[in-house]
Amino acid sequence: MSTFLVIGAGGNVGSELSRLLEAAGHTVRRGTSREAGPGQVHVDLITGTGIDAALAGVDGAFLLSPPGHTNQDQLLGPVVDAAKALGVHKVVLMTAMGADADPNGAMRKAEVHLEQSGLTWNVIRPNWFMQNFHTFWLHGIKTAGVIQLPTGTAKGSFIDARDVAAVAAVLLQGDTHANRAFDLTGDDALDHDQVAVLLSQALGRTIRYEDITPETMRPGLLAAGLPADYADFLLTILHFFKLGYAERVTSAVRDITGAAPRRFTTYAPDYRTAFA
Ligand SMILES: NC(=O)c1ccc[n+]([C@@H]2O[C@H](COP(=O)([O-])OP(=O)(O)OC[C@H]3O[C@@H](n4cnc5c(N)ncnc54)[C@H](OP(=O)(O)O)[C@@H]3O)[C@@H](O)[C@H]2O)c1
Repeated sequence: MSTFLVIGAGGNVGSELSRLLEAAGHTVRRGTSREAGPGQVHVDLITGTGIDAALAGVDGAFLLSPPGHTNQDQLLGPVVDAAKALGVHKVVLMTAMGADADPNGAMRKAEVHLEQSGLTWNVIRPNWFMQNFHTFWLHGIKTAGVIQLPTGTAKGSFIDARDVAAVAAVLLQGDTHANRAFDLTGDDALDHDQVAVLLSQALGRTIRYEDITPETMRPGLLAAGLPADYADFLLTILHFFKLGYAERVTSAVRDITGAAPRRFTTYAPDYRTAFA
């Protein structure tokens, strides 16, 4: 059995990944930037505290960049270097679908840093998470029954974060797919009108979609506490969604886990209480 560090262990992907690894009999160090409780280890990628201690003696590590920050390469580079120096065997890095579109983008630079580190690696690039609907987009759904996004009629092959975790769990536990990057998507692409219908059916009340402009959305993002550069980053990638770049479907989840990705019709009822 192995020992793994999971950065973001309290989050959408990390919580399920930690559960899966422990269920398989491994020891998991659950990374948190807060004060560490039982089973947790303090590691703060912003301040750089705790990185060496968290990585010392682990066989593999799952990395992500904390949401809200656009300097992913600067946050993740030191972790990759420490993993190499401490003899960690495998690092799985989660970025996002489209990260490889811009060689000068911070996410791509973080990927390249890992790929050139000499570590055994995987990069996973998930598409937009289904879980965003009960987190980022929840306020409008709860208070007004509306999903407001600047995405027009474009479709996205939304992925359930639990499937991202299932992929990461396989990649951490074996080297069959070593040193490769994967774009992870759901099995079908939906536009936000279709999402609204599926959410309405699951929640038993009417949810509708409203196409808004980026200019309309920006003040709400800032009011929710997002730094201006991250709000603009989010609006940029939502623009790429509107242009159709989120529509592509890949077979990676099925290829790696052997199971079909969850559909929106599974996600929505599973998270019904989060929408209440
Ligand atoms: N949402 C999407 O649609 C989507 C799609 C593709 C890729 N992604 C990528 O997925 C990542 C987010 O994953 P997620 O949704 O699973 O996470 P999440 O639910 O947003 O949770 C964020 C995690 O980051 C941890 N964290 C916050 N600040 C930290 C710090 N300074 N140092 C170390 N850890 C810190 C938090 O733990 P503590 O509070 O305990 O520290 C928490 O576990 C981002 O990198 C994002 O770019 C998201």
